[in-house]
Amino acid sequence: MALVELKDIVKSFRNGKTETTVLRGIDLKIESGETYCVVGESGCGKTTLGKILAGLSDYSGGSYLFEGKEVSTLKGEEWKHFRQKVQMIHQNPYESLNPSMMVFDMIANPLRRHKGIKDTGRLYSEVSRLLEVVGLTPVDDFVDKYPAFLSGGQRQRVSIARILALDPSFIVVDEATSMIDTSLRISLLTTLKEIQEKMDVAYFFITHDLALGKYFASGKKMMIMYLGQVVEEGDTQKIVSSPAHPYTKAILTAARGNTGILEEKAEDRFELLGVDIPSFSQIPSGCPLHPRCPLAVKGLCDVRNPEMHRLDDSRLVSCLLCQGDQK
Ligand SMILES: Nc1ncnc2c1ncn2[C@@H]1O[C@H](COP(=O)(O)OP(=O)(O)O)[C@@H](O)[C@H]1O
Ligand SMILES: [Mg+2]
Repeated sequence: MALVELKDIVKSFRNGKTETTVLRGIDLKIESGETYCVVGESGCGKTTLGKILAGLSDYSGGSYLFEGKEVSTLKGEEWKHFRQKVQMIHQNPYESLNPSMMVFDMIANPLRRHKGIKDTGRLYSEVSRLLEVVGLTPVDDFVDKYPAFLSGGQRQRVSIARILALDPSFIVVDEATSMIDTSLRISLLTTLKEIQEKMDVAYFFITHDLALGKYFASGKKMMIMYLGQVVEEGDTQKIVSSPAHPYTKAILTAARGNTGILEEKAEDRFELLGVDIPSFSQIPSGCPLHPRCPLAVKGLCDVRNPEMHRLDDSRLVSCLLCQGDQK
């Protein structure tokens, strides 16, 4: 049984009389201790999906099983268990911490509440252990600090320590490094990877930056999202070294321009047409990418919405022009 399983998830937002569907037909399986990365442009629905996974938002259709149980029907102790085991690290470390609370209490409170630890000595040693895990050492320099005296990166580490106090098995990491200094990003990601090795947590890692996704989900799985749908998914290495979907090729080209993490190969450059990104209220007919896709075939791509199909043993893709064995 997978730890997390989504089947055909749909999410719509209602605003007065208009309903906008943001997520369509999302399938996803994450095993215990596994990393799954999602990459897509800003506004494509990543945070919406992350919030559903973290139990912070409901879904309009489909099924979400956590440890084999439908999340929308959980009640009482089972809901409490889910809310403890599934946590989310948010994008903005300046908003996620209570400014009037010392670091010690921020981490000690969940230990008191969820683990029933009352003894001050035990609390202190557990808080110290967690601060060490997230790399805030020497611990004594941090326990009595308030958030205002911490950098963005340090605040994000406190948020992570506070989450770890709950013994989570699944953490949604939503653009957690986008608001901290570039020079500190890799170090925070390394800390997250070390935590996974020590504590066997599964991650759903959200980023708009393919290079960062490649770094974090190297040897793991990745999916690429466009306008609320998955366009390609499978082994990170495969996707990054030989992207199949035109949208993946385009974001890979853009990512190569920005960073040295991905190698540049001039012959692989691929750019989308310079037209506006369609909005959720006017999703194009046929393949949602076709107005921006230089390969689009008239009479095919503007008519048929591609199904997700198997391209090879480690990859699924939704493009009418990408051949493979049908799923
Ligand atoms: N609470 C909400 N009410 C209405 N629309 C929303 C709400 N939250 C997100 N959206 C819309 O859903 C779309 C996807 O947003 P989001 O999931 O935040 O994208 P991403 O995280 O990929 O940037 C956007 O068009 C956004 O405006
Ligand atoms: Mg977001």
